[in-house]
Amino acid sequence: MNSAVLVDSLGRRIDYLRISVTDRCNLRCIYCMPENGIQRLGHDEMLRYEEILRLARIFASLGFNRFRITGGEPLVRKGIVDFVRELSAALPGCDISMSTNGILLAEVAAELKRNGLHRVNISLDSVDPHAFAEVTRGGDLNRVLQGIDEALKAGLVPVKTNTVLMRNVNYGELPDIAALTLSRPIHVRFIELMPLGEACSRWQAGAFVPASEALAMLRSRFQLRQAVLDGGGPARYWRIPGAAGTVGFITAVSSHFCSSCNRVRLTAKGGLALCLGSNLEVDLRTPMRSGSSDEELRRIIVEAIRRKPARHHMGEPGNGGGGEYGWREMFSIGG
Ligand code: 5AD
Ligand code: SF4
Repeated sequence: MNSAVLVDSLGRRIDYLRISVTDRCNLRCIYCMPENGIQRLGHDEMLRYEEILRLARIFASLGFNRFRITGGEPLVRKGIVDFVRELSAALPGCDISMSTNGILLAEVAAELKRNGLHRVNISLDSVDPHAFAEVTRGGDLNRVLQGIDEALKAGLVPVKTNTVLMRNVNYGELPDIAALTLSRPIHVRFIELMPLGEACSRWQAGAFVPASEALAMLRSRFQLRQAVLDGGGPARYWRIPGAAGTVGFITAVSSHFCSSCNRVRLTAKGGLALCLGSNLEVDLRTPMRSGSSDEELRRIIVEAIRRKPARHHMGEPGNGGGGEYGWREMFSIGG
């Protein structure tokens, strides 16, 4: 079933699909969601679970073997825990993960694991309850920390956390966040702020911190040693001596890894998004709902991936973000 291999026009092997199951979220992170929320997709605009399952099978038949469930916040969509069971049953032998903000994770971690989820990435932009509530506009840090610990207990490993680096927001806390790895076998990753959607104004106000600066700051506090991680993806990892976990950096902006990009994204309304830094998107919902066969959908997907952009231009002079294609909103695509 997974013998096919999809290669784009630049020779990149594309085998990783990120599936956004909703554009809704129970938080309003300052770099992602507008304060007053978003124009939500209507019920019929969103793909139904069985439509996502059908597309996931088609992607698997094209050689995709890594699937990540994202949002918005995936755990706010009704029926998500059962959907995970159906998705994992539909994709035998594939790596299935989820990106979540962790707020609702503690209650369902064990069941997600039983239903076939392999691992989770959890957003964690602060370890100070007040600062956390500010970054997320009201989120409860404790629930996220419980979510992390329940995920570890449930075996949703490796547990990775994501911290978006922002000057004057969480920069001073980086050592405290890194110190979470002392007692927990988690991978704490610091991500450069990407100038997308809501993040643009913060970017312009100087919030961007290059990963190199964050690393230098942490090295002045800890004797970091380089660590090697299986399947570490685009992050480079470090370890505080004696720590159970590791610290990593994702240089999405300062040193883009587009030349080895292996992924595309399915939006909640059934668009195939080809690059984070571009609004280029190919509609799969309309052909699917107007009766296209699996073979026809396969052809549309292959054709779309051929048009995957060579690279993004985020952060370049005169181009805060989406450039010729406009801004992409993160909540519609789940990172
Ligand atoms: N820049 C960098 N990372 C972002 N995320 C969301 N918006 C941005 C942005 N503008 C990341 C968050 C979240 C993941 C789903 O996407 O870290 O954990
Ligand atoms: Fe929600 Fe994630 Fe966006 Fe925060 S970053 S508002 S948790 S979708």
